[in-house]
Amino acid sequence: MCGIVGYVGAKEKKEILLEGLSELEYRGYDSAGIAVIENDKLTSFKAVGKLKNLQEKTKNYTSSGFGVSIGHTRWATHGKPTELNAHPHLGKYSFVVHNGIIENYQEIKKGLQKNGVNFLSQTDTETIVHLFEQNYPKEQKAFEAFEDTIKTLEGAYAVLLISEVAPDTIFFAKSGSPLLIGFDNEEIYFASSDTPIIGKAKEVYYLEDGEYGYVKEGKVILFDKGGEKSFQTKALTLDKISAQKDGYRFFMEKEIYEQSRVMSETMMGRLKDECIDFEEIDEAFLEGIENIKICACGTSYHSALASSYLFERLAKIPCSVEIASEFRYKEPLLSKNTLFIVISQSGETADTLEALKMAKKGGLKTLAICNVDNSSIVRTSDRSILTRAGIEKGVASTKAFATQTMVLWMLSLFIGRIKGTTDAKIAKSEKDAMLHIPKALLIPDGLHEKIHRLSKRYLHGHGFFYIGRDIFYPLALEGALKLKEISYLHAEGYPAGEMKHGPIALADSKLFTIALMPRSLHYEKIKSNVEELSARDSTILAISPCAFDLADDFILTQHDSHPMIEFFEMMIITQLLALEISVRLGNDVDMPRNLAKSVTVE
Ligand code: G6P
Repeated sequence: MCGIVGYVGAKEKKEILLEGLSELEYRGYDSAGIAVIENDKLTSFKAVGKLKNLQEKTKNYTSSGFGVSIGHTRWATHGKPTELNAHPHLGKYSFVVHNGIIENYQEIKKGLQKNGVNFLSQTDTETIVHLFEQNYPKEQKAFEAFEDTIKTLEGAYAVLLISEVAPDTIFFAKSGSPLLIGFDNEEIYFASSDTPIIGKAKEVYYLEDGEYGYVKEGKVILFDKGGEKSFQTKALTLDKISAQKDGYRFFMEKEIYEQSRVMSETMMGRLKDECIDFEEIDEAFLEGIENIKICACGTSYHSALASSYLFERLAKIPCSVEIASEFRYKEPLLSKNTLFIVISQSGETADTLEALKMAKKGGLKTLAICNVDNSSIVRTSDRSILTRAGIEKGVASTKAFATQTMVLWMLSLFIGRIKGTTDAKIAKSEKDAMLHIPKALLIPDGLHEKIHRLSKRYLHGHGFFYIGRDIFYPLALEGALKLKEISYLHAEGYPAGEMKHGPIALADSKLFTIALMPRSLHYEKIKSNVEELSARDSTILAISPCAFDLADDFILTQHDSHPMIEFFEMMIITQLLALEISVRLGNDVDMPRNLAKSVTVE
């Protein structure tokens, strides 16, 4: 989703901004822009589409010498992805970039328009720069004008503003959307996550909600509602964990193939001979916990849903799961004996972060399962367990989902052990199954090629139903989501036993059913459900270790000893199927239209 970078110093600013923005590219965006003030002069460039369009536009521009600069990648919320709607937004003598949503922008805009301000874009962001310029002439004090502006804004924002009236200064503010400041002596960097500044800054400060201020002459002056405040920076990792495609056609493809390896890393040091242990959590933390509530969005929600079966079955602890955007506004009843878990690959999802804050406010113990250390969700929760999937660049999440599910499976056994509710024999057989997961995730010779060949038959039709039972129902949801995300075909995940209560009315030869038919869990039940669809002429692709005559297409799986081993093996097959259909349709696999990797707006 939208990305922010900023820089104050004497280095070539265009390169720093463009390099920084390219580090944020994988998160999804549809236009980009930069603005620089040097020698008291404002310059800006914007372009729709990929960053290379902006690079092309700026190729003859250089900016050496001291100056201030801001850059942005935009994921459209208010107004289409056009050049006018791209950031930075210009007033008469100032530029602003913004992530988040200004909820009261209509009201502010009306007031400004009444005073004769002309708006060029349809964005909420443009109100910020005009409001600043309306406030400035009152006292001719730029910081006070910025402070007044920020105090008027409602909603979520990370903002950087530069102005010809203070040509050596960047004004900044954060509330709800992530923003950090990087330091390398007198050089100051801003970014919406740490990747753009790794290798450039040595120290970092992650701004808290409600903080704002300015940077001038190599110094950051920070405020919150209590006035000016001091702050502590911390060392920034020096290693750039940049991901390369390593010979694969797409990041998503590489990430699917990496799953076997990263699952070993997820388990490392946690899956011990005698038991499962998480050094991030101790017994005291679980004291008094009688149930679990999990909140998440998208793919992470599917991982949550799968784990709810495991928490109840293996740890014998009641577990409920909610979509974070729904949870936030349902006026939920929270009780202090609930462990509140949030799951997020990015650690920045606005809805999940707000749900987490609500739980904290309600006095619940909170735990984050996340792939990004130092992310907002990790910093906000009481405890966090990192999934160790490594950087995931494909917008359609694959290895992050696998590692989240692995952590949650382990966590169910960990909690069951601490609470004494998991039978030792069961714990042992689950642990043995875990050790088989890396092997089950190796893609056997010929499987990918087979899926590639099959995929040509699934490019049309009037829809896909992915069906499964028990933990294979959330996997069906996830399989359908993967297909939707990158093929743009309509797909739904459904509990197999529920098809007869409505959706079966859609069944005909142009309805594609992707049937997840594990041997180790309710095989006969799902088989009957698939037979019902076959009898109504639905085209069936069955994925199973057991031959199934009624399938039009069939993918034979290798493992059938344990439901979770079957789960992960089938997960890979659904990921590869989505990938191959998307490739045949000529779509952008890694950056599908309209989607973002890090969704920082609600
Ligand atoms: C976006 C991504 C999805 C992801 C969802 C939740 O929509 O495109 O892949 O599942 O956000 O993200 P999170 O980072 O919280 O897991």
